[in-house]
Amino acid sequence: MAATQRATAFFLLIVFMQCFTTLADEHSHTYDDSEEVVLWMNTIGPYANRQETYNYFSLHFCQGKKEGINHYHESMAEDLQGIELEFSGLDIHYKRTQSKLQYCTIDNLDKDKLDSFKYAIRNNYWFQAYLDDLPLWGTIGEYDESTKSFYLFTHRRLDIGYAGNRIVDVNMTNENKVKLEPGIAVPFTYEVNWKPSAVKYHDRFDKYLDPSFFQHRIHWFSIFNSFMMVIFLVGLVSMILMRTLRKDYARYSKEEDMDDLERDLGDEYGWKQVHGDVFRAPSRPTLFSALIGCGYQLAVVTVCTIALAIFGDLYTERSSLLAAAIFVYAATSPVNGYFGGSLYARLGGKRWIRQMLISSFFFPSLVCGMAFFLNFIAMYYHVARAIPFLTMLAVAAICLFIILPLNLVGTILGRNLAGQADAPCRVNAVPRPIPEKKWYMEPYVIALLGGILPFGSIFIEMYFIFTSFWAYKIYYVYGFMLLVYVILAVVTICVIIVCAYFLLNAEDYRWQWTSFLAGASTAFYVFLYSYYYFVFKTKMYGLFQTVFYFGYMGVLSMGLGIVCGTFGYAGTNAFVRKIYSTVKID
Ligand SMILES: *[C@@H]1O[C@H](CO)[C@@H](O)[C@H](O)[C@H]1NC(C)=O
Repeated sequence: MAATQRATAFFLLIVFMQCFTTLADEHSHTYDDSEEVVLWMNTIGPYANRQETYNYFSLHFCQGKKEGINHYHESMAEDLQGIELEFSGLDIHYKRTQSKLQYCTIDNLDKDKLDSFKYAIRNNYWFQAYLDDLPLWGTIGEYDESTKSFYLFTHRRLDIGYAGNRIVDVNMTNENKVKLEPGIAVPFTYEVNWKPSAVKYHDRFDKYLDPSFFQHRIHWFSIFNSFMMVIFLVGLVSMILMRTLRKDYARYSKEEDMDDLERDLGDEYGWKQVHGDVFRAPSRPTLFSALIGCGYQLAVVTVCTIALAIFGDLYTERSSLLAAAIFVYAATSPVNGYFGGSLYARLGGKRWIRQMLISSFFFPSLVCGMAFFLNFIAMYYHVARAIPFLTMLAVAAICLFIILPLNLVGTILGRNLAGQADAPCRVNAVPRPIPEKKWYMEPYVIALLGGILPFGSIFIEMYFIFTSFWAYKIYYVYGFMLLVYVILAVVTICVIIVCAYFLLNAEDYRWQWTSFLAGASTAFYVFLYSYYYFVFKTKMYGLFQTVFYFGYMGVLSMGLGIVCGTFGYAGTNAFVRKIYSTVKID
């Protein structure tokens, strides 16, 4: 009985996982002799922009004679990333050598086809293919500057290394240039060579990694640097605060001893003055608590996804990182509900259903809205990235039937367990006027400056992340990423606490939004940096690539901003509670 139950549970788990990952036959990665091996053609696109991809066969390449193989299941995450594998039509069998053989011909290279090939060659188009999940890349042709002629590679040589019954190494070489001229017929040939290889199956992805890039001295150095910065900052912040606070406390307790008249005439100043307002609810409490809830969730999602990537070697499986992120996002919805809902209740909000809806859909609608917009553009340009309608439906279903209910659970828990207002000081009925202050003490200036140091601690890592996202590098140093993430959190919290201290000392009690925005401004600098990266580090051009780049970067920055803002708010919140609960208020 228990066994059947376990089997059923296991089966359900598998079915559930099926929604996210692929489990087709070739995923066992073992082959019998002469078993069919499939070469999947994926996409084609300019070398300068890995994210602009078109269907391989949209470029009038011809397909091998072999009819389709078994139905191939694609996962939702692959659809979202625009991975749309198509069978190459090449007849390949395990350990069966194939000498040079013609597999198809482009019969008549009319003007249409010729122009599109020329365009692609001129723009350095690369194609991407998969064989047993191992990625292959190749240029499609060459342009000869001196003779102004275009050449297309028409022979594909596959060298496949095997060990036992597994494929461990694949090289594709493109040979035999054919000069493109109108009206000619272009025959395509292929050959397959099998060689025993000493590569271990578990190491077969190693050759795609680029340690000299990712484990460059600069990378180690920057992490070491940020780490020292953290130690320095934490020391500095705690020292300043300890000393200043001790002085403040001493001053305040001296004032306690003065009689009333003296105190009325005396010059009381500083953060204690705003004790009657400091726990006043911020303006727009609904939006504020939605952002904080969302920030906590995204922070957890980031940690979990990075941890999964560290332990799961996710880069070996197509788009499994995105699938993992979506899965973790859906599963951590209660976190959002809990923190958002409880904060909203503590702020005295009454319309909690509205708050919960905003909280649940804020980030998904941001991402989907951007995806939708980019999708329109992609459709206009016929890019492979266009997301199928069914996938959009699936995403909507996940939002409605998984994220929303889980969020509801979290909200109810949060309101009941942590929803009681428990501020250490009473809030006065009438808000205190905010005194005039120097321009650099204005909340928006503090908010803008707050992000500089946190940005400084992550921008080198950002370079590596951007490079792996927009160029042909596989990011695999997730340990670094996790470390940098922790550093970012610590730096943000320290810096924003100091910012909030200055603000409160200037007797301005609007610390909630200020600390959130000061943290979030890190993302503003990241966005500026992405602009720099776009101009100086990429070779992208044209409306499509520009919109795409800044669309992605905008969403990334928004997410990062929400997370950093939440770090800032959470740290400041703890700090503010601490200092106001220890000072004596009459
Ligand atoms: C693929 O190319 C690399 C580098 O040129 C070589 O070391 C390796 O042996 C090749 N693999 C096969 C299967 O030919």
